[in-house]
Amino acid sequence: MAFFLNKKSDDQDESAKTATFFFGLVQKNVLVTGAYGQLGSELKRACANHEQNLKFFFTDADTLDITDIDALDNFVRENNIVYIINCAAYTAVDKAEDDSDLCYKINRDAVINIGNVANKYKARVIHISTDYVFDGTNTRPYVETDPVNPQSVYGKSKQEGEAGLLNSCPASIIIRTAWLYSIFGNNFVKTMIRLGKEKETLGVVADQTGTPTNASDLAKAIVHILDYTEANDFEPGIYHFSDEGVTTWYDFTCLIHEYAGIATCKVNPLTTSQYPTKAVRPKYSVLDKAKIKTTFNLSIPKWEDSLKKCVVELMTNN
Ligand SMILES: NC(=O)c1ccc[n+]([C@@H]2O[C@H](COP(=O)([O-])OP(=O)(O)OC[C@H]3O[C@@H](n4cnc5c(N)ncnc54)[C@H](OP(=O)(O)O)[C@@H]3O)[C@@H](O)[C@H]2O)c1
Repeated sequence: MAFFLNKKSDDQDESAKTATFFFGLVQKNVLVTGAYGQLGSELKRACANHEQNLKFFFTDADTLDITDIDALDNFVRENNIVYIINCAAYTAVDKAEDDSDLCYKINRDAVINIGNVANKYKARVIHISTDYVFDGTNTRPYVETDPVNPQSVYGKSKQEGEAGLLNSCPASIIIRTAWLYSIFGNNFVKTMIRLGKEKETLGVVADQTGTPTNASDLAKAIVHILDYTEANDFEPGIYHFSDEGVTTWYDFTCLIHEYAGIATCKVNPLTTSQYPTKAVRPKYSVLDKAKIKTTFNLSIPKWEDSLKKCVVELMTNN
């Protein structure tokens, strides 16, 4: 069951009077923030046919600005929110280098707001973080206990958001993910398809290694974790989630073009120094997913299979 809130809509007023029981089941209310983003949109799809014991409230900056602690407090109290899934974030990694105040406001201060409100009303938080909390010097997949050392404003703001949440609401779940793409929003996959159609050659960085993640897989994992929690216990802590496998941006691009049937664009490998960006990216950010798979009995698809699904859907709809 899901509500997508329009600004000051009647739905919002109605939702405040939420029935607590649905066909005899105790109904629990789930707040999703940042719901117009890639992950939020996929979460909406992932729980569209979800069992009725969880009722989802999808909000974004126009209906619930997470930097406004009074609005958050009112929303959580009025709607008896039991779980908060924070998909809201400042994600413009390069822009953040010149816009650090807003980046920290959303990625750190607002996450602390969420933690404080959750703590006050005994709600559970599932917050999303990033591989950019690491410096990228590892030569084996990062585990949750590896030291963080973010190299960009975005990475630092997300790392301080993690720390702030664990301070304000210690029993939270933080899921670090990487290289997120989706049929929704702007992302690397869509950009590479567009450029592949427009250009005869394209240079893509081949010395940064990581794992792409279809936001649809992460959304399904979050719903799985909610179901697991309902049937078992809430298992707080930091977890890593990406799709399975390892690649580079260059190889990722080649497969995007193959799946999209783009044969007219030659993709050339570049070094990071040949493609300078404002924000420093980790050279290596493969995440070890053993903890999340074991704790929640979760299986994760291979990145190639998930990419194919996304590209097929994109090509079908365009
Ligand atoms: N994208 C990636 O490659 C990647 C990689 C690793 C981790 N992550 C993390 O994964 C999570 C989801 O990322 P995503 O790609 O889905 O992000 P996204 O597409 O940029 O969506 C973020 C959403 O948050 C909203 N938002 C911004 N400020 C807000 C505020 N003050 N209050 C409420 N909502 C606000 C945005 O609205 P506006 O568009 O109106 O600003 C947007 O709808 C984030 O925590 C991100 O840091 C992303």
